[in-house]
Amino acid sequence: MKSLIWIQALLVPAFGITSQTPLVQDEPTLSDFTVHQSSVSPDHSIRIKRQNASLCNTPVDQYTGWLDVGAKHLFFWYFKAEKPPPSDTASEPLALWLTGGPGGSSMLGMLQELGPCLINAHGNGTVYNEYGWNKETALLFVDQPAGVGFSYLDEGEPVPGDSFTTAADVHLFLQMFVSQVFPEHGDGPLVITGESYAVFVPLSRKDIISSAGARIVSQNALHPNQPQVPLKSLAIGNGYVSPLDTAYGYWETLCTTNPGVEAPVFNSTRCDIMAANLPRCMDVSRTCYEHPDPAICQAASAVCWFGVIEFYDGESYAGGRNRFDITAPCDIDNYCYANTALIQKYLNLNSTFSALAVPKALTHFSVGSDAVMNAFGATNDLEISLMPQLTYLLASQIDVLIYQGNLDLACNTAGAKRWTSNMAWKGQAEFTSRDLKPWMSGGEVAGMSKEVNVQMVEGDEKRTRFAFVTIDGSGHMVPQDQPAVALDMLDRWLAGKAFD
Ligand SMILES: *[C@@H]1O[C@H](CO)[C@@H](O)[C@H](O)[C@H]1NC(C)=O
Ligand SMILES: *[C@@H]1O[C@H](CO)[C@@H](O)[C@H](O)[C@H]1NC(C)=O
Ligand SMILES: *[C@@H]1O[C@H](CO)[C@@H](O)[C@H](O)[C@H]1NC(C)=O
Ligand SMILES: *[C@@H]1O[C@H](CO)[C@@H](O)[C@H](O)[C@H]1NC(C)=O
Repeated sequence: MKSLIWIQALLVPAFGITSQTPLVQDEPTLSDFTVHQSSVSPDHSIRIKRQNASLCNTPVDQYTGWLDVGAKHLFFWYFKAEKPPPSDTASEPLALWLTGGPGGSSMLGMLQELGPCLINAHGNGTVYNEYGWNKETALLFVDQPAGVGFSYLDEGEPVPGDSFTTAADVHLFLQMFVSQVFPEHGDGPLVITGESYAVFVPLSRKDIISSAGARIVSQNALHPNQPQVPLKSLAIGNGYVSPLDTAYGYWETLCTTNPGVEAPVFNSTRCDIMAANLPRCMDVSRTCYEHPDPAICQAASAVCWFGVIEFYDGESYAGGRNRFDITAPCDIDNYCYANTALIQKYLNLNSTFSALAVPKALTHFSVGSDAVMNAFGATNDLEISLMPQLTYLLASQIDVLIYQGNLDLACNTAGAKRWTSNMAWKGQAEFTSRDLKPWMSGGEVAGMSKEVNVQMVEGDEKRTRFAFVTIDGSGHMVPQDQPAVALDMLDRWLAGKAFD
């Protein structure tokens, strides 16, 4: 189990906030909600309720609700864009945000980073976010799989072990959402965005097309007569794509000034030990990539933990080191940021539960689910490479943006430079032949970038964009640490503008 701890710390909070039992009223009357039945699947329906600025402080229209699939209920929160679309006929863009984990609630990203409103300093309300990501696009947050955040299972139902089912649910949810509930998004474009592990969840590595993105692409192709989910791109922030390269990047992040620090974090004694241990960590990790048996992958994780990772991550806790920003303190265990506890407090208020009309089956909101994390931990899902998922999407002409806060260690830029260069696909040679160049935001150098635009399908002129962008002075949570730069980056990506 030890071998899993570093991932566990990375992805799932486990702190025990004193849980106040919220006032749970009788089942909310369905009249509060509008119910939409899927035109494609008899098992899927969406119940949706309008909210107002007293819940999340923003001038735009907002709605919350659940996708109901039998005993599973997936929670969502949806916001309109601040700017109306250019003309009455144009389809409105939509961005889906998924927080990492597995097992982390998307409410974290919403209220701590990029939502239209952010948690206030007391944890009893929200403040308008000037840099919310819904300036040019509508924004949708989903808690998944069931068992995470406000998503729940009927009593007695087991936590989903097979995440493939969840990918199918997310696809059906989006299909209904853009065709029946908000048809103004019917032609998209849709961008799926998130952090760490997020964009790949739900996922089961048993099957290459098991992430939500890949599921969408394959279902669109399989059922051309059904409503299509207009997925155009992925924007992945500090993604947990290649554990091997992330471990390798620990040395550069901690033993050089490359992340943008004045002096290396570690002294040469520690750096020498890590350097000596790295070749074996790489060797066993490569074996896991080639033979992804859980026993081999968990061994790889253990070798890398004890030889490399533990020196820093073993000292990460309240008052210790922060894995998400090598220059920042760690205020609370696991997630390090005090805001996380405030979010949990706010979402557990009686007034919040009653506005959302949370049903009896859910008595407490938690920002992270241990049960879901453990279900993933029992597989090899956390140690293997996700590059095959990305190459599948690129081959399907889905644009991919990889953005990286440079002060992050957990999913470090040094490792991301390595895997983006090593990923085998048609654009690889051109991508590696290019140099990173500074990109400007607000009149200042924001970081480095490079990109390629590659024709992926013979006979089809369409070019698929693969961009790599770094952000200086930012840790893992880029919209939290560099809000103006992060919004500028997103809007450029949505508009198809170059970074240099
Ligand atoms: C919330 O509801 C519970 C249960 O009814 C009650 O004990 C508690 O005082 C309420 N809290 C607030 C802040 O109103
Ligand atoms: C939040 O708490 C602060 C400090 O206790 C208080 O001044 C403020 O009125 C509270 N706001 C709400 C909306 O309850
Ligand atoms: C190097 O850092 C470690 C951990 O902070 C410390 O225990 C050790 O004494 C340091 N060594 C030197 C030579 O400063
Ligand atoms: C906003 O919604 C809450 C319930 O969620 C309600 O009590 C309040 O009256 C609403 N405010 C406005 C201005 O509609």
